[in-house]
Amino acid sequence: MKSSRKLQKLFESGVLLSAWEHASRWVHPVNGRRILANLESLDFERVRTYYPYRPNPRRIRKFIEVVQDLWLDRGPPLQILDLGCGTGYFIYICRLFGHDGIGLDTDAEPLYRETLALLNVPRVVSLIEAQVPLPDLGRKFDLVVATRVCFHLTGWPKNLPGGEWGAADWKFFVNDIRTRFLKPGGRMFLQFNPRPDDSPFFTLALRECFLELGARIVRSKALFAADPSLCARFKQTK
Ligand SMILES: C[S@@+](CC[C@H](N)C(=O)[O-])C[C@H]1O[C@@H](n2cnc3c(N)ncnc32)[C@H](O)[C@@H]1O
Repeated sequence: MKSSRKLQKLFESGVLLSAWEHASRWVHPVNGRRILANLESLDFERVRTYYPYRPNPRRIRKFIEVVQDLWLDRGPPLQILDLGCGTGYFIYICRLFGHDGIGLDTDAEPLYRETLALLNVPRVVSLIEAQVPLPDLGRKFDLVVATRVCFHLTGWPKNLPGGEWGAADWKFFVNDIRTRFLKPGGRMFLQFNPRPDDSPFFTLALRECFLELGARIVRSKALFAADPSLCARFKQTK
């Protein structure tokens, strides 16, 4: 096999992309231990009266990686909307870097109610549905984020694997976010889990759909600029 072809294969397999991501994070390290210690210093006792619970270090590290990938550890203060915010950790961690924001999620999980209150992260209770505009939040954001996206799964959480959004649903959603929730120059970042059979979220059809919508795709992540004609940048410049 020609070396150029080998190189291309490496890129395709994501190995180099992954190495690049690790190297970029390594160049701008974030003290994850201090963040975890900060979280553990909070009074989780009330939460523990209901659930045997403590912050999951692995999850916290993943949130820190998102912070690093989006340059939130070294950029100007941003207003952030976290879709499917769950416990609220992401906004809490972002606040440690000078940002502010709110979450949006359903109210189906009592544990999240407790952690959001403990972390003092405001949450709008709303169900994200295919082809339905999100509720008016009365403001726009520099960054809309969703990690471990689930709102596109129609069987969530009880009937998995069930159906999922198609191209028209994603088109509607991305347009809704761009036109009603992103400030000029804003970005939307989506990170997907692998599928139940461990295959990547991005099938060929979904990759094509996201690219048509102007997404920049890096492995299981998609980044959108508010302006569909622009290529979104991970580096935040304001
Ligand atoms: C796997 S959890 C991820 C939580 C958090 N973003 C994280 O990375 O830890 C998925 C979250 O999406 C929320 N969710 C699922 N379907 C939703 C929908 N249709 N509308 C709003 N939130 C939804 C769930 O309540 C849950 O908090």
